[in-house]
Amino acid sequence: MTFGVVKLVVFALALIMTAATNILQYDLRPSTKLSLDDIYEYAHLLGALSGLANRDAPRLFTIYGDSDIRWLSYMSSIDWPEDANYTVISSIVDLVRYFSDDIKGVVLYDPNVPATSNLASTASGVYNLLPICYRPTSDSLYTQLVQSGPRLPVQVNFVNMFSGNVTGSAKTDAYVWAAEHFLASRLADGTHLGYYIDKWWSQSSKAPQAVFESLAINHDWIVKNRGFVFDLSPWDDEAPNDDPHQPVGNDYKALIAILQKAYQQHNGTKFSTVSGFVPWLFKYVDEKHGGVPSEWRMAHVMSAFNVIIDADACCLDSFANAAFYSHYASNQTQRRFVQNSFPSREELIERGLLNEENIVTNRTYILYYGGDYDSAAWFANEFKNLWDDPKRGSVPVAWAVNPNLYDRFPLLHSYLYRTRTANDFFVSGDSGSGYLNPTQLFEPRMFSGLPRADALWIDRNRYYFNKFNIKHTGFVINGDAGPLTNQSDLMYTKFSPLGFTRQQGYTTLGETALIPGTRVPSFTETDLIDGSEVQQILSCYRSQTVRFVVFRGVLRSATNYANITENVEKLQPNITFVDPYTFALLARIYLSKDPTVNNDLVSYVDDNLPRVVRNGDIITANFSIRNEGWNTLNNLRLKLIFVCNMTYVFDWNTEIKHGDIQTASYQFQVECEQPGGYQVIYQLFRDETSFEEYGNVPWISSAQLI
Ligand SMILES: *[C@@H]1O[C@H](CO)[C@@H](O)[C@H](O)[C@H]1NC(C)=O
Ligand SMILES: *[C@@H]1O[C@H](CO)[C@@H](O)[C@H](O)[C@H]1NC(C)=O
Ligand SMILES: *[C@@H]1O[C@H](CO)[C@@H](O)[C@H](O)[C@H]1NC(C)=O
Ligand SMILES: *[C@@H]1O[C@H](CO)[C@@H](O)[C@H](O)[C@H]1NC(C)=O
Ligand SMILES: *[C@@H]1O[C@H](CO)[C@@H](O)[C@H](O)[C@H]1NC(C)=O
Ligand SMILES: *[C@@H]1O[C@H](CO)[C@@H](O)[C@H](O)[C@H]1NC(C)=O
Ligand SMILES: *[C@@H]1O[C@H](CO)[C@@H](O)[C@H](O)[C@H]1NC(C)=O
Ligand SMILES: *[C@@H]1O[C@H](CO)[C@@H](O)[C@H](O)[C@H]1NC(C)=O
Ligand SMILES: *[C@@H]1O[C@H](CO)[C@@H](O)[C@H](O)[C@H]1NC(C)=O
Ligand SMILES: *[C@@H]1O[C@H](CO)[C@@H](O)[C@H](O)[C@H]1NC(C)=O
Repeated sequence: MTFGVVKLVVFALALIMTAATNILQYDLRPSTKLSLDDIYEYAHLLGALSGLANRDAPRLFTIYGDSDIRWLSYMSSIDWPEDANYTVISSIVDLVRYFSDDIKGVVLYDPNVPATSNLASTASGVYNLLPICYRPTSDSLYTQLVQSGPRLPVQVNFVNMFSGNVTGSAKTDAYVWAAEHFLASRLADGTHLGYYIDKWWSQSSKAPQAVFESLAINHDWIVKNRGFVFDLSPWDDEAPNDDPHQPVGNDYKALIAILQKAYQQHNGTKFSTVSGFVPWLFKYVDEKHGGVPSEWRMAHVMSAFNVIIDADACCLDSFANAAFYSHYASNQTQRRFVQNSFPSREELIERGLLNEENIVTNRTYILYYGGDYDSAAWFANEFKNLWDDPKRGSVPVAWAVNPNLYDRFPLLHSYLYRTRTANDFFVSGDSGSGYLNPTQLFEPRMFSGLPRADALWIDRNRYYFNKFNIKHTGFVINGDAGPLTNQSDLMYTKFSPLGFTRQQGYTTLGETALIPGTRVPSFTETDLIDGSEVQQILSCYRSQTVRFVVFRGVLRSATNYANITENVEKLQPNITFVDPYTFALLARIYLSKDPTVNNDLVSYVDDNLPRVVRNGDIITANFSIRNEGWNTLNNLRLKLIFVCNMTYVFDWNTEIKHGDIQTASYQFQVECEQPGGYQVIYQLFRDETSFEEYGNVPWISSAQLI
């Protein structure tokens, strides 16, 4: 009896104790007052330590910029991590001691070969080491952590390892060795690449004015994922400014070697993400090439190797704690984010945009593209401030967030979808689920000669667009890869039923067009020009006709869009600002002249299919479907492909009116003896016609047979 009570008390205590999440907090801001060497080295150490400490759970939080303070307060408002108990540690030596169980020692790098700092980041993730610069001066981290203090053992030493005797440059010798040692061996994961400036940063004349731009703190995400970090010029026609005596083309060749070896790890079955960007403020530009051409060159090259860019571009890109935040997604893998529903035909008639004969009213229709979120860093640092705006909701905006950013920064999405108004819509940003040049997915793939990857791109986008209920690709950017092609247009129709917007000038199809053979409209963007937005929009007005124009804004607030709108509408009431769904539905009916073109559209908003099943299980599955189209749906069939690729066909006899969600429940038995992971797919059919014919992306998930 007494024993039982004691046990109960202990159990209750254990519950209380495990409820708190103990987290250490370190303020890295004072390090920015130190020397340029120290600024880099402290940020680098914290980046790597955060990657290691936060690999399996959120345990270390770094304060580096305003955005860290903002997220700290946001996290406390949602009680995540649960019952967080932050303990401030002010000494970096103490901090390292706290995590001594997670750290196996040090990887020492060579200040005379700055590229080795990036090799050290790769080694850090692979071997659980802290990257330390070999700088035996009195207060250096080397002195504090290796020569004294915890006296961390040196496990990997890059000092004096690279002399240039292989490629003619110590820098490229280092990367060529690393490509072989870490990527060809598969020690490092080639799907998590980092393109971050190396320790050369400390010697750049621009560094004193840009102390947060070392971006060494951003390495945490790559270290967490045991990825690979590099910093090489994508140009092959000049020696880079950080290594002016190398044979011309060395950097480029090393870059290609890295991308080839990363690709060989999966042989075309995956996309890699490179977080980072050409470090244009410091390197590789302004001699022969400008910043934007260098960005385009990078995208052109990366795309050829199945690499998308998570574009941490100067100068909003210093981003700590991604490894920490990423755990927020760990209990949300099944979660779907559902957007506003499509407008009905009656609604468009009521708003005067369409008449009873389905003729679109002569107006100039404007869609705001609210970007530019193709980088988790920009998204985390900038978007919430712009979103939390009293005027948000007063005008429709297509907020352009690349859905793959969720992987590195999942904290914000729930908030966005929860607090969206009837005028807030989400579309993808640059090129879809990651920034790349779409035509580079087709053969011949310049720079790589690899096989086409369009089917893989469709799969990737279907996954992300489904998860975030996205129906429109905001900005298809093809940069240096030339005009978009029929093939690449068709590829976008497979996951963007409500259209895609192209970079200006990249098509022969015209400003607005349906992709031949489909119901999918394509549009053309125009960049908003600071200070002359109202004139710019007024000048695109055409009387006595219908016109669709997308205006692309970068880091603008809802107040700004509202203000522009108010000024334009005062001067030209025949310009109408609409949301991306109204925009697309009007364009579809206008271009096709087919009043049924907006029928038979759905969103698969929920199901409760199990993820793990056994042969013989009897499953009751509920499917919730929202009717987005203009007709009432009923008497359909739902085809489910489940484990062992078995097809089950259910009758859908539940009427769904426009805008409604209905749920139907079905029972079926698992008949599958072959254990393993299977793709799960479902889609509505009308008789034998798949709803894919009408532009609906099938729902795709997975299940495991055990
Ligand atoms: C999942 O995460 C959300 C967001 O932090 C949190 O509110 C919820 O309690 C978590 N659920 C579980 C089961 O951990
Ligand atoms: C919070 O963390 C401190 C320091 O690690 C620890 O002493 C204290 O017990 C923790 N508090 C709770 C409620 O877990
Ligand atoms: C290059 O020099 C290193 C020592 O710095 C040596 O280990 C290596 O064998 C040399 N490689 C070649 C190709 O000479
Ligand atoms: C890589 O994939 C191609 C098909 O794209 C195949 O022909 C080749 O055998 C594969 N190579 C390896 C090493 O698996
Ligand atoms: C691309 O499609 C357009 C419109 O259907 C057609 O006129 C053109 O010939 C096609 N181009 C190629 C290269 O197939
Ligand atoms: C739009 O303008 C054209 C050209 O003046 C005209 O023929 C057409 O009837 C107008 N459409 C509507 C719905 O008024
Ligand atoms: C609103 O727009 C006007 C005209 O373009 C501009 O002068 C003013 O500064 C803007 N105000 C805000 C709050 O953006
Ligand atoms: C708006 O369009 C209508 C119908 O086409 C036309 O009568 C009117 O003059 C236009 N208003 C302006 C300000 O252009
Ligand atoms: C499934 O749907 C049935 C009837 O439609 C309902 O009674 C049941 O609660 C649902 N189950 C779940 C888990 O949503
Ligand atoms: C299921 O389909 C996939 C793709 O078509 C195929 O690779 C796999 O072998 C199939 N599995 C079974 C058990 O039929």
